[in-house]
Amino acid sequence: MPLQIIVGAQWGDEGKGRIVDWFASRADLSARYNGGDNAGHTVTVGPRIFKLHLLPSGIIHPQVTAVLGNGMVINPRTLFEEMDILNGSGISTSPDRLRISYAAHLITPSHQALDKALEGARGKDNIGTTGRGIGPAYTDKATRRGLRVADMLAPDFPERVGDHVAETNRTLRMYTAPELDPAPVCAQYREFADRLKPYIADTSLELHAAMQAGKIILVEAAQGTLLDLDFGTYPFVTSSSTTAPAALTGLGLGLDAARTASVVGVVKAFQTRVGSGPFPTELTGDLAMRLRGSGANPWDEYGTTTGRPRRVGWLDGVLLRYAVRINGLSELTVTKLDVLSGMENIKLCTAYRQAGKTLDDLPFGPSDLSPYEPVYEQFPGWKEDVGGVRNWNELPSAARDYLDRIASLAGVPIRLASVGPERDQVVEKV
Ligand code: IMP
Repeated sequence: MPLQIIVGAQWGDEGKGRIVDWFASRADLSARYNGGDNAGHTVTVGPRIFKLHLLPSGIIHPQVTAVLGNGMVINPRTLFEEMDILNGSGISTSPDRLRISYAAHLITPSHQALDKALEGARGKDNIGTTGRGIGPAYTDKATRRGLRVADMLAPDFPERVGDHVAETNRTLRMYTAPELDPAPVCAQYREFADRLKPYIADTSLELHAAMQAGKIILVEAAQGTLLDLDFGTYPFVTSSSTTAPAALTGLGLGLDAARTASVVGVVKAFQTRVGSGPFPTELTGDLAMRLRGSGANPWDEYGTTTGRPRRVGWLDGVLLRYAVRINGLSELTVTKLDVLSGMENIKLCTAYRQAGKTLDDLPFGPSDLSPYEPVYEQFPGWKEDVGGVRNWNELPSAARDYLDRIASLAGVPIRLASVGPERDQVVEKV
């Protein structure tokens, strides 16, 4: 399969980073097509833990060329911080292995200030954004006044940055939020441009050539299906298209690329979300604390980007089936199976109930989930620690029964399950 698309089937944080890392050992390129540094992808390699916000997780593999596609919004400051960390760990981020689309948009401190001002103005109805300026940057893109990566090549780029800061200041004034001094932002972005220039490319052209040469391209979505601007729990969503079809427009690939694509949906063995919005299977109290973890481990349920505790609940099979349809998933990978070890019982939401009727599908997508009550199937748990299991048949039978039911409910096979944070803690169903 020249094109392998890895998407989140829930509200993000499904563990896509480590699954991309698993697939990347056999890939030639690794590309991201949406979002920006609101994402947080963690890859654990022995004692080293890489927390990536902008760079595709595949970059950790030396044979991989990383691509930031046109659908992204890029904060150069975060990008350089991340590149410096990788360089310091002996992972090269030289222009021959990192390519950045000329058509991606830039995030500036003005976008971040506006993100905070807008959230403040929403008060208790806030979305709970990551504060990274994602919404304002995509707003500028849609209203055709954004700064693109290609603008960095223009001699008057610093002036364009100055105009952008002045323009944003007018909006900040409306929200009585502090304005920004354009001069230091211009100076900083001039320096950023000097450093970024060698990386700027027509990545669509380069990806097309790679596909023609039979190279394997791994495509990594950020966030999850239920945070998609069109198909998520609107308005509690991010501002980009997080679903698999958007990989084509976000990378400049034609529909012919889809013919060779496999689409892997990553789903946690339970459900989590950060930020506001509906969550029908949400748990509170002891069970929630048990699933979330104490925060002592980097893989506990606390946001990689913001550190916020994640909301947790039982796996929602109705929303999973929806994700299979919207993305055209060919298979599933279930992560964090180990977290369920030791639980007496496990519940799985298989349908919703509303006004005495049982519903297998959502009549109008997931925006308003308030009328629905989850219908659960209960499974016996298992006591065994599954962290050392590498063979599917050695998983406890209760765990296999749970996974089989998830696959039958979703209507697509499960090919992989992760049983711990380490790179090799993956069980393949062969
Ligand atoms: P924004 O993308 O910062 O505008 O945030 C919009 C919503 O998406 C908020 O609920 C965030 O918590 C959520 N969100 C954004 N990025 C991620 C992510 O990578 N994982 C999980 N949730 C995210």
